[in-house]
Amino acid sequence: MMVAYRTRVHLALSSLSLALAASAVLAGGAGAATLGSAAGARGRTFGTAVATSHLGEAQYASTLDLEFNGVTPENEMKWDATEPSRGVFSFGPADTLVVHAQGRGMRIRGHTLVWHSQLAPWVNNITSGSDLTAAMTNHIAQVVGHFRGKLAYWDVVNEAFNDDGTRRTSIFQRLIGNGFIEAAFRAARAADPGAKLCYNDFNAEGTNAKSNAIFAMVQDFRSRGVPIDCVGFQSHFIVGQVPSTLLANLQRFANLGVEVQITELDVRMPTPASQANLTRQASDYAGIVGACLAVSRCSSITTWGITDKFSWVPGTFPGQGAALLFDANYVRKAAYASTLRALGG
Ligand code: XIL
Repeated sequence: MMVAYRTRVHLALSSLSLALAASAVLAGGAGAATLGSAAGARGRTFGTAVATSHLGEAQYASTLDLEFNGVTPENEMKWDATEPSRGVFSFGPADTLVVHAQGRGMRIRGHTLVWHSQLAPWVNNITSGSDLTAAMTNHIAQVVGHFRGKLAYWDVVNEAFNDDGTRRTSIFQRLIGNGFIEAAFRAARAADPGAKLCYNDFNAEGTNAKSNAIFAMVQDFRSRGVPIDCVGFQSHFIVGQVPSTLLANLQRFANLGVEVQITELDVRMPTPASQANLTRQASDYAGIVGACLAVSRCSSITTWGITDKFSWVPGTFPGQGAALLFDANYVRKAAYASTLRALGG
C-alpha cells in the first residue's frame, strides 16, 4: 500500500515538475532553452552581429531567429555604407536587417556613427573643422533620423581613444578636436530622443589607461548633462586572456549611472582549434556572462557573429579563429553550452 502510494505521489510530482519546466521554457524562465530566452529571463538581451548578405542562408537565419533576441548590423550602418558620397544616403541592406529584427521582436544596436575606420573616402578630403562638424552632424541627423524610433541603442562614437588613454588622431580629432565626441552625442540625441546613446571601444574591458580615460570622459559627460546612456565594451578576446578586472571595470562604469554592454564578443584561438582551447574558451565565455549578470546595469551581451564560418577573426588575425559559439557547420560548441548554463538556461 505504502509503496504504491509513494509511487503515485512520486509520479504526480515528477509530471508536475515536468510541466513546470516546460512552462518555464515557454515563458523564458529558469531552464530556458535558447540564449535569447535565457538572457531575457534575466532581463538581458543576448544579441549577435548580423550581415544582411547571409540572411538568405537558411541555417544562418534559423539560428539567428531561434537563439538571439538582439542584433547589431556588422557593417550595414557604417559611414561608408550609409553615406558613400556626401549627401547621398543609402539604407537598403540596413533596412532589410531592421525589418527582419523588428518582425521577430529583437532589439537593435545601431553601429556606428563616428569612427575612423570604414569611413566614406570623401570625409578624408575635408580640410576644415567647421566643414567636418557640418558633415558629421548632418550624417548623424540623417542616419539616426532615418531609423528614428526603431533602434534601442546607437554606438555614437567608436574607438576614439588609444591604449595609453590619449585620443586617437582620427580626422575628427585632428580637425574638430576633443569636442567632436560631445557634438556627436548631442546630434544623435536630437535626431532620436528614444534611442540610448553609447560610446564603444576595445581594449577597455579591464581596468587600464584606456578605460580610465573613457571613464573620465563619461564622468564628465554625466556631470555636464552631455547625453550618454551606455558604454560598450567590444570584448574581442584571446582565449585564456579575459581581463581579471572585467567585472570591477563594468561595475565602476555602471556606478556612473550608464548601462554597460558587452558589444562584440568573440574569443579567438590558433586554428585548427585544440580541444584544450575549446574547453578554455567555454570557461572564458561563462566568466564573461557571469560578470555581466553580476552588474545590474549590464543590459546586453552581443557576440560578433553567429558562426565561425563568417567570423571576421580569420581575416583580421591570420592563423586564428574558432571564436564564436557555433562552429562553421552551426554545431553548438562547448562555449555555447557554458554560455547558456551561465545565463541560467
Ligand atoms: C568588422 C567587421 O566584422 C568586418 O566585416 C569588417 O570588414 C571590418 O569591421 N570593431 C568594430 C567592428 O567596432 O565594427 C568591426 O567589425 C570589428 C572591430
